[in-house]
Amino acid sequence: MKVVIVLYTAGKHAEDESRLYGCTENALGIKEELEKAGHTVVVTADKEGSNSEFEKNLPDADIVITTPFHPAYLTKERLQKAKKLKLVVVAGVGSDHIDLDYINQNKLDISVLEVTGSNVVSVAEHVVMTILILVRNFVPAHEQIMAGEWDVAGIAKDSFDIENKTIATIGAGRIGYRVLERLVPFNPKELLYYDYQALPAEAEKKVGARRVTDLKELVAQADIVTINCPLHAGSKGLINKELLKHFKKGSWLVNTARGAICVAADVAEAVENGTLRGYGGDVWFPQPAPKDHPWRKFHNQYGAGNAMVPHYSGTVIDAQVRYANGTKAIVESFLSGKFDYRPQDIILLNGQYKTKAYGDDKKV
Ligand SMILES: *[C@@H]1O[C@H](CO)[C@@H](O)[C@H](O)[C@H]1NC(C)=O
Ligand SMILES: *[C@@H]1O[C@H](CO)[C@@H](O)[C@H](O)[C@H]1NC(C)=O
Ligand SMILES: *[C@@H]1O[C@H](CO)[C@@H](O)[C@H](O)[C@H]1NC(C)=O
Repeated sequence: MKVVIVLYTAGKHAEDESRLYGCTENALGIKEELEKAGHTVVVTADKEGSNSEFEKNLPDADIVITTPFHPAYLTKERLQKAKKLKLVVVAGVGSDHIDLDYINQNKLDISVLEVTGSNVVSVAEHVVMTILILVRNFVPAHEQIMAGEWDVAGIAKDSFDIENKTIATIGAGRIGYRVLERLVPFNPKELLYYDYQALPAEAEKKVGARRVTDLKELVAQADIVTINCPLHAGSKGLINKELLKHFKKGSWLVNTARGAICVAADVAEAVENGTLRGYGGDVWFPQPAPKDHPWRKFHNQYGAGNAMVPHYSGTVIDAQVRYANGTKAIVESFLSGKFDYRPQDIILLNGQYKTKAYGDDKKV
């Protein structure tokens, strides 16, 4: 079999940290074993355009493995070239870089699996961190210190507590629920959530969250909004000019879900015109983000309000260990012909959706 693995290149960092599995140098720790078993393994970071290593190796690839951090986009055009493809493994969570509907509708015999749960705690922690960074105005405060300056008032006038704030999550699945759990000790005024289905009563009670079924009403009540839903046709461009009009003036928005859930230019404009006091997160579209992406530069009138970082919340070392391990298990299960996958990892099984949405994301 031919296995094509697409990951970011780490250079010297791969030597610094041997558990940095998600890079071309360490290849999720599975390259040697696969080669020993007689398989051909291609590991590359080169994934854009028809001359890329990825696309050149696609026509005879049986297995493609990639991460959401450096995603090998499997568009309709690429899937048409991938005549032998049987298995796509996402080392991490989120298969929105794959045209799942195309596979499904054309009855292609391709299975798509993720390592469900591998990132949930890592991303939830990043969400809470980003909320604090924005609300407390940390970034400009730190930049001031590094620049040799000292202007307490300049920072304090735009810095707040998260206590007594209304905080809303769009999506209350595995990650969104963990965010709510982690926010409880901060004594928010209220926790709200928006989801296509209600949390189990028990889970709702545990965090004291209230469901709001209208998105406009949700954002109109919230001081802080965090996005924790998958990207699909229904959530693409969800945060746009139209919805931003309904946000509370001076609220904060945090997105570690997927960049394309927001219309990039609209969010940047909303920070610049004061609708949002700040926006932060780690997800972009496309990835890597181009140098001129509007999210690299936006800020509010005080030069604050930008807490953007590259996509790493779900690829911290603890998560890498989990998704490398999970990827190994999926590939071994496929190669052994047992196909005894963990049910929660299956997105498409031989071209068929296992559940209506992207996996059983609503289990908390
Ligand atoms: C909570 O915030 C509101 C304004 O949103 C304020 O009127 C109220 O005094 C605050 N309560 C506490 C306990 O700080
Ligand atoms: C600020 O920009 C956002 C995003 O385009 C828009 O929804 C909002 O109406 C604008 N507000 C003002 C006061 O111009
Ligand atoms: C590694 O994967 C196996 C099989 O899915 C699982 O049973 C085990 O708990 C995983 N270990 C870690 C550290 O994630």
